[in-house]
Amino acid sequence: MQTLASFVVIIILLQSLLFHVYGIHKTSSHNILKDSSPFPSDFLFGTASSAYQYEGAYLTDGKGLNNWDVFTHEHPGEILDENNGDIAVDQYHQFMEDIQLMTFLGVNSYRFSISWSRVLPRGTFGGINYSGIKYYNTLIDALISKGIKPFVTLNHVDYPQELENRFQSWLSPKMQNEFGYLADICFKHFGDRVKYWTTINEPNHMLILGYISGTFPPCRCTSPYGNCSQGNSETEPFIAAHNMILAHVKAVNIYRTKYQKTQKGSIGIVVQTSWFEPISDSIVDKEAAERAQSFYSNWFLDPVIYGKYPKEMVNILGPALPRFSSNEVKNLKNSRADFIGINHYTSYFVQDCLISTCNSGYGAFKAEGFARKLDRKGNVTIGELTDIGWQHIYPEGFRKMLNYIKDRYPNIPLFITENGFGDLQKPEMTVKELLHDTKRIQYMSGYLEALQAAMRDGANVKGYFVWSLLDNFEWLSGYKVRFGLFHVDLTTLKRTPKQSASWYKIFIEEQHVHTEDLIVK
Ligand SMILES: *[C@@H]1O[C@H](CO)[C@@H](O)[C@H](O)[C@H]1NC(C)=O
Ligand SMILES: *[C@@H]1O[C@H](CO)[C@@H](O)[C@H](O)[C@H]1NC(C)=O
Ligand SMILES: *[C@@H]1O[C@H](CO)[C@@H](O)[C@H](O)[C@H]1NC(C)=O
Repeated sequence: MQTLASFVVIIILLQSLLFHVYGIHKTSSHNILKDSSPFPSDFLFGTASSAYQYEGAYLTDGKGLNNWDVFTHEHPGEILDENNGDIAVDQYHQFMEDIQLMTFLGVNSYRFSISWSRVLPRGTFGGINYSGIKYYNTLIDALISKGIKPFVTLNHVDYPQELENRFQSWLSPKMQNEFGYLADICFKHFGDRVKYWTTINEPNHMLILGYISGTFPPCRCTSPYGNCSQGNSETEPFIAAHNMILAHVKAVNIYRTKYQKTQKGSIGIVVQTSWFEPISDSIVDKEAAERAQSFYSNWFLDPVIYGKYPKEMVNILGPALPRFSSNEVKNLKNSRADFIGINHYTSYFVQDCLISTCNSGYGAFKAEGFARKLDRKGNVTIGELTDIGWQHIYPEGFRKMLNYIKDRYPNIPLFITENGFGDLQKPEMTVKELLHDTKRIQYMSGYLEALQAAMRDGANVKGYFVWSLLDNFEWLSGYKVRFGLFHVDLTTLKRTPKQSASWYKIFIEEQHVHTEDLIVK
């Protein structure tokens, strides 16, 4: 690993520069941390990834086709660079090298997801593929041998296409059994070593894209929400969500009854969160901001934690919102999560469209809770805007969001399962510019500071995962939006550290210095 060795030298040179530029001098940051509450010594620092965005090897070793394989091949024009995840960043073949990068960073955990169609190419309609089981076993063992704890997502967007073709996947209650079967197999084969499980990643956000705006597969929607050939934006997202919630509950019940006592791990769900700031002090805008939360993260967290949908959804959606049967309510009675996983990237202003008149357009409609999200109020933006339309740099919103979750769901442990900064690769941009990612460092430093502030406020946060270890396939943005701490050359697949990789390494080291300090005293 000659590259790594020379890299270390560069890092040492970089450290002084970084400390100079960002004011994170070793001693001063040390002192700051002493005064603020530091991260506890068992805190997980990691990086996050997902199967479709990383693995590639889309037909290797018997893997079945999934929804994204089919979508990207049938509709290449929907992807910004007309690319796909056939190869992605080839983690399927390069995971040993990637673990070396994690070792360099000094992280103690890695979040990745299971490719459903690699393990069960046809869901319950075919056999288990033991080549897939073997891949994850090897990955898990390799991580553990380097002191990196696997933090595993059972489902991160992709599922076998056969389940879409047979019964429209999440629109059917049959998906609950399919997911339970996948979960059982994963607990059985990996659960002796995996102590952190999450069921479904960002169901709230995926359903908006797949069933309200229809821009993600299965591309179902109705006007005025989007332009699809089939679907119903005002009913289907809520049906699919209901099946996802019950699928989550099924997996948790399987874990708790069959595995948890012996395997001693914990299981949760991951939601996407945004902070929604009322655009004015008026009661209607404050209520709109609350509705925006309810139609987003609370949509899943309230049923999982409290066994019922948020009242704002019940009021607005009426009969379009499915109900839990008395049996299901019984199942939901106790919290069906040991922890909550939080993905967080951005904040918005929110304006009322229920009582106030809004021009038609995004946010003005029922399935969106009549709450319009805006990036500015007059000409005051919510934080700093970026080249990616939806990402606004507003660390204070992260602190507010964590406080909101802490107050709504007291005591339950939280993991920040994703947080990171994306660079839109403009045509004139050079690799050198991409490697010199000061904006990402500014973002991470602001958000980690906000995280510490939220922990001082009382948020029970147990870990933080940067999205992402590597540049990777960013869904509709293809490879044009880069979130990695490491740059990936798409032709050679060579990984090169960005400045943020060194910054994160130093940040983690600082926590250890402080922890050791405390132990000595
Ligand atoms: C699993 O993959 C292998 C190739 O590695 C293939 O021969 C086998 O048929 C697959 N089994 C199932 C059940 O898909
Ligand atoms: C909807 O999509 C069709 C086919 O791509 C296109 O012809 C039409 O202009 C679109 N309509 C709107 C309102 O975008
Ligand atoms: C935006 O700012 C400019 C100058 O700072 C001011 O002239 C203008 O009125 C402002 N616009 C709004 C909508 O507040």
